[in-house]
Amino acid sequence: MKPKLIQGFSKLSRNEKLAWIKEKHGVSDRTLDLIESHLHPDPGLQTIYGEISENNISNFFLPLGLAPNFLIDGSIYTVPMVIEESSVVAAASHAAKFWAGLKGFRTEVTGMVKTGQVHFRWNGEPESLFNAFEKAKPHLLGSLKPFTGKMEKRGGGIRDMEIRVSGSGLPGMYQLFATFLTADAMGANFINTILEAIAERLTGVLQESGASGSAEVLMSILSNYTPECRVRCRVEGNTSVFDDIHSGMAGETFARRFKLAVDIAEQDPYRAVTHNKGILNGMDAVLMATGNDYRAVESCAHAYASRSGTYRSLSTVELDGKAFRFSLEVPIAVGTVGGLTGTHPLAAASLEILGHPTSETLMQVIASAGLANNFSAVRSLITSGIQSGHMKMHLGNILRQLNATGEEMALVYEHFRDRTVSHSEVSAFLERTRNSEQE
Ligand code: MEV
Repeated sequence: MKPKLIQGFSKLSRNEKLAWIKEKHGVSDRTLDLIESHLHPDPGLQTIYGEISENNISNFFLPLGLAPNFLIDGSIYTVPMVIEESSVVAAASHAAKFWAGLKGFRTEVTGMVKTGQVHFRWNGEPESLFNAFEKAKPHLLGSLKPFTGKMEKRGGGIRDMEIRVSGSGLPGMYQLFATFLTADAMGANFINTILEAIAERLTGVLQESGASGSAEVLMSILSNYTPECRVRCRVEGNTSVFDDIHSGMAGETFARRFKLAVDIAEQDPYRAVTHNKGILNGMDAVLMATGNDYRAVESCAHAYASRSGTYRSLSTVELDGKAFRFSLEVPIAVGTVGGLTGTHPLAAASLEILGHPTSETLMQVIASAGLANNFSAVRSLITSGIQSGHMKMHLGNILRQLNATGEEMALVYEHFRDRTVSHSEVSAFLERTRNSEQE
């Protein structure tokens, strides 16, 4: 039997959509009230949020937090972070404060080049394609001026383009591989517009340049793999800076264990994925706060981590005698103008908190947040373990789930000050407290 599908859902008003989920999915009035209560009280702002994506019925809140004391290339930043995982903002803040007491984060942007491809089948001799393209290239570039003029004024534009055999290895398949500079924009719309304009002109300009054959264009799209849009970030110091980092552990021992942990992540994909996730905790939170596309940056980071053929850690440690250096190198394609950065009021607020950065500066801040979170995670792993700190941060969530009152919360925080937190232990303690109150 064919499933019964709703038609025209997107055309229903918000109230009709709510009535539909009530009828179709038995959603309770209490839940509908909850959904309603998450609308923004300012109708103007609600319209902005409502127009960000389709079929919306309410807003889904996540906290916007601040990690202060990030010393990056000599300037202090307060870093806005949006994330659902408790402990990420605290971890970033601790690491930022620790390294700010030393020389802070040092960064270097090694490139800002974005990429795009037009994938096509060439019905003709390969040689004729390559020769004709070389001849056609100036004319093709010239014909794109109406699309590139504005971006060129901002210092961007098309950097280069060439024909390559398709990376797929499929017979007859080729790609026009283009590189771009997009100034302070992430540039997705700019790149995709150019690529589609190229696709439209491809067969024509090739034939005008003497090619015998035609291009059947399959698709034109930017590539989120941007290894030439990359930033390096490092923190460094003498191992003695770690002397007081964990009671009973000498700085040299800490540095040796830290390096060992990162070396494992360089070799073992099972560990590397979790290690890199710890880096992305920090990076994603800043990407979210500034209205950038974290999925694009994540998939690029993972591809970059696999560039040797094995998935490896994005960060490395060098330990030369007592000299400790912890570095991260990662592609980050972001924007500080256009897209959500301008439309989401809180993304704009985050950029203001960061001092209206260029996209290059934002890359430096994001990488520093990634390295900071990575430092805190590895630090915990090789000392106290991750759970004690993590669960302490999670304690508030557990207490809310258990509907603890303010008074009960204070008792629980006191009780678990130097005890291991777990859901069952907290629940049992609360139950004992509640029972003893009743007696
Ligand atoms: C948790 O969100 C991130 C960590 O697992 C990262 C790591 O293991 O390095 C703590």
